[in-house]
Amino acid sequence: MIIHGTLVNLRERRMEDFEDYERWFAPGWAWQEWDAPWEAMTPLDEKMRERWHERLAAPPPGPPTGLEIETVEGRHIGWVNSYWIDEDNCWRDCGINIAEDEVWGRGMGKEAYALWVDYLFSAHDLPRLGMGTWSGNRRMAWVAARVGMRQEARFADARMVKGKYYDALRWGLVRAEWERYQLPREDGLRRYTPADWDATVELTRQLFQQHRTLQGAPPFSVQDARETLYSWLARRDNILWLWQQAGQVLGLARARHDGACFLEEFVVSEGRRGQGIGARFLAALEDDLRASGERDLFLSMVWPGNLGAIDFYRRHGYDVLNTFELRKGLDKDRRGREIEFLERRFYLSDSVP
Ligand SMILES: CC(C)(COP(=O)(O)OP(=O)(O)OC[C@H]1O[C@@H](n2cnc3c(N)ncnc32)[C@H](O)[C@@H]1OP(=O)(O)O)[C@@H](O)C(=O)NCCC(=O)NCCS
Repeated sequence: MIIHGTLVNLRERRMEDFEDYERWFAPGWAWQEWDAPWEAMTPLDEKMRERWHERLAAPPPGPPTGLEIETVEGRHIGWVNSYWIDEDNCWRDCGINIAEDEVWGRGMGKEAYALWVDYLFSAHDLPRLGMGTWSGNRRMAWVAARVGMRQEARFADARMVKGKYYDALRWGLVRAEWERYQLPREDGLRRYTPADWDATVELTRQLFQQHRTLQGAPPFSVQDARETLYSWLARRDNILWLWQQAGQVLGLARARHDGACFLEEFVVSEGRRGQGIGARFLAALEDDLRASGERDLFLSMVWPGNLGAIDFYRRHGYDVLNTFELRKGLDKDRRGREIEFLERRFYLSDSVP
């Protein structure tokens, strides 16, 4: 059995792989500092070689629980595995390890992990797949976010690494979401899928750049946008919608569901504004929420200086609730142009002694 990707393939284990594992389980490899570094490492011995022989001669029935990762050129670089957390409830975790660290950061981990998650959901009747890591291992959490997992739990100071405590993290993906990722990405309103990463990063950048420009603040970089999207994906109470036309993603909305639904971000692609896209996107999003039983949609993200946006929402039936958001900048540099604008607009400065 072989699962083909564009950078890597996943294939079944062979006896000659044992030599690679012998090397990788000797001390000094970088992966050992990242993959559960609190666990003791045991070098492979002759007994283990025999166990491999026996297992390869008589593999257990059912789909494989692990596969080897090799580059498309055929270089063996690591492995993926999977194991029960709770078999009675079909709760399974899956892991990845690229032991050859000089190939890290080239997209191979992301592709191998995505192929593995797809395979496990296809081959087993699993309600969910999970992954456990620690807060020091950003690369692994990032790979989980990129394949469409969401962060499900965080246990503060639960993992000790090199004398310092880190948080234990659990990420996971439920079958319904994974099945949604497999659907064709049709025009109209739809939820975010991992394949939308690049388009979503760009819309996120445009949105925050607009805020920065209004405030005369430094530019919002692509890396800032990537970090922002990652932080949204890391929270299960975030909902991300996209608006697509003629195969192009032209709108992004983010809501936070916290008892009620709060629309926190709403943006239409630069250059495509003023063509009725926002109105259609917002109406479809409201329909989607109505269909799932929501009674209200709150907008708390509208900056009072953004008069065009306020006008847009009022025309679409939003009532101004007259709530003020107050802030005290706890360091002296926090008073941006936005505050000066508000003071002028609402004559607030007169009332400040
Ligand atoms: C974790 C691992 C499988 C990832 O594989 P990889 O080939 O390095 O990962 P990729 O290149 O596909 O993706 C890495 C992503 O992390 C991002 N990243 C986030 N924070 C990062 C950081 N601090 N350093 C490096 N990359 C970081 C990269 O930008 C990249 O995402 P992008 O494609 O959106 O730019 C691999 O590094 C590995 O085997 N590490 C050691 C073992 C391990 O930690 N296993 C997991 C145990 S829980």
